[in-house]
Amino acid sequence: MNVQTNSQRLFFALWPDDKTRKAIASVVKQASQHHRGNSIRTDNLHLTLAFLGNVNLMQRECVEALAESMSITPFSLCLDHLGVFPRPKVLWLGVKEKPDALKQLATRLGKGARDCGIKLDGKGFNPHVTLMRKVSKLNEFQVEPIYWNVDQFCLVQSISHPEGVEYQVVKRW
Ligand code: 2AM
Repeated sequence: MNVQTNSQRLFFALWPDDKTRKAIASVVKQASQHHRGNSIRTDNLHLTLAFLGNVNLMQRECVEALAESMSITPFSLCLDHLGVFPRPKVLWLGVKEKPDALKQLATRLGKGARDCGIKLDGKGFNPHVTLMRKVSKLNEFQVEPIYWNVDQFCLVQSISHPEGVEYQVVKRW
């Protein structure tokens, strides 16, 4: 909690189960052998559905009520695709096929957040798990596809520490 503004930096995300997290972490390890840059710590790995930014208590209650009212159709993701966003210099693992249920979930959360008075950046939904930062060019390497069965989503708080950012799951649905 930011004491001055009473706000929290929040986002909706898919949080990998232990097996999926370990599999993604091994791709981070491979990636770090092919790139210079900063690897994401294993316990921070996630897929963002909607980034809310700084949210006040009323807005937080509003998005939690929205999440509570939503039902999720379980789906499976196949993480099989590497890429780089050159401007934020992010190396990511993503999906070639975006399941409709994933797109719908992200769209509904984004719309709900706007209805709660939260301004979202206008960037389209590009599902990815960030593996490394400060990477501007992809050095391609072979990845084994990772199958991830998704049956829940969560609200996550981003907490900045002098030693780096920490992501804490606040609630799961
Ligand atoms: P990234 O992994 O591509 O950096 C917490 O910051 C999460 O929200 C990260 O996964 C980050 O994506 C994502 N995110 C999306 N839009 C963001 C923004 N405008 N500012 C910070 N993080 C954002």
